[in-house]
Amino acid sequence: MTLILGIETSCDETAAAVVADGRRMLSNVVASQVDLHRKYGGVFPEVAARQHIITILPVIEEALRTADVGWDALDAVAVTRGPGLVGSLLVGVNAAKGIAWTRGLPLIGVNHLEGHVYSNWLEAEGNRPDKTFPVLVLIVSGGHTELVVMRDHGCYERLGGTVDDAAGEAFDKVARLLGLGYPGGPAIQQAAADGDPTAFAFPRAWLPDTYDFSFSGLKTAVLRAVQQLERDETAGGRKLVPGSPLPPNVVADLAASFQQAVVDVLVGKTLRAAADVGATEICLCGGVAANRALREALRRASPLPVSIPPLSLCTDNAAMIAAAGYFRGYRLPDGFIGDTLDLDVVAHLPLVSAEGGRS
Ligand code: KG4
Ligand code: ZN
Repeated sequence: MTLILGIETSCDETAAAVVADGRRMLSNVVASQVDLHRKYGGVFPEVAARQHIITILPVIEEALRTADVGWDALDAVAVTRGPGLVGSLLVGVNAAKGIAWTRGLPLIGVNHLEGHVYSNWLEAEGNRPDKTFPVLVLIVSGGHTELVVMRDHGCYERLGGTVDDAAGEAFDKVARLLGLGYPGGPAIQQAAADGDPTAFAFPRAWLPDTYDFSFSGLKTAVLRAVQQLERDETAGGRKLVPGSPLPPNVVADLAASFQQAVVDVLVGKTLRAAADVGATEICLCGGVAANRALREALRRASPLPVSIPPLSLCTDNAAMIAAAGYFRGYRLPDGFIGDTLDLDVVAHLPLVSAEGGRS
């Protein structure tokens, strides 16, 4: 059995986990900073980095304690090295280096996106840990929207991605526009629950003949609709006082119509890509994969098996980093691939195939 300690601090979650053989979670501890950043309406990078410093060691200790594992039982340390906020990444990477050096453990730098991909390999409800390649992966997070085909472990062929806003970014921006607060994704989902997804005919950017996505036109369409409603004398059957918030039923309809537009495009393009590459299975991952409408629509529409992690593994966590570290470190044809102690953080890091991966 190979035990990997995973560490994740790329944004505003301080996380540590112990995972056996890349699949079985012995612990998965996440300290959220969401309350700290709420008053800024988004993640404040300097505040995030400072909070990681305070939280990282207790979180790691809790991960070991919950797993009932001592330092000596660990085989390697895997840590997110990018993409993300540099100040935040530095805290996790330096903690991992300190542990690797003092305990004489291999260090594995992990791409955060690869972590999201491997959240689908963890043993958890909704996941299909045993897979046959090729697998089609849709990564939808706050910073990324990527369609990738995997023909083997560590082998990523990018089919397309967003040409402007990421899906999660669109949720966050539209939530702000509708006065729904932060974080935007869960707030839109909640507001949309009481809304009519057909109330507003928002555009779907299909970008034909590509696997790319675009969400900025949709965001602008929501803005225009809000401005129009504010100009109108009445909205939702009630008289609007200029400058006052929109009535909740109108906000619900806007949220539901926006969410439906995002879901339609994500599901439609994913299914087409899966058919085109002859995928055996579709994997959904990243923070937006927590969206109920998206999960249900993809499961309903897909002729292929669909793997979607439970909510706690969709948003940022360290179990997925440990899993990715295991498959990158131990499962490639050339054997173990580790990093040296000069491993650095990288703010913008594309998802690339591992050395030794057969692409
Ligand atoms: O993967 P993640 O935790 O962090 C990044 O790597 O970016 O994703 C965060 C994103 C945010 O934009 C958040 O609004 C979105 O995921 N999100 C959701 C939901 N839960 C989180 N979007 C839609 N519906 C949700 N239920
Ligand atoms: Zn993420």
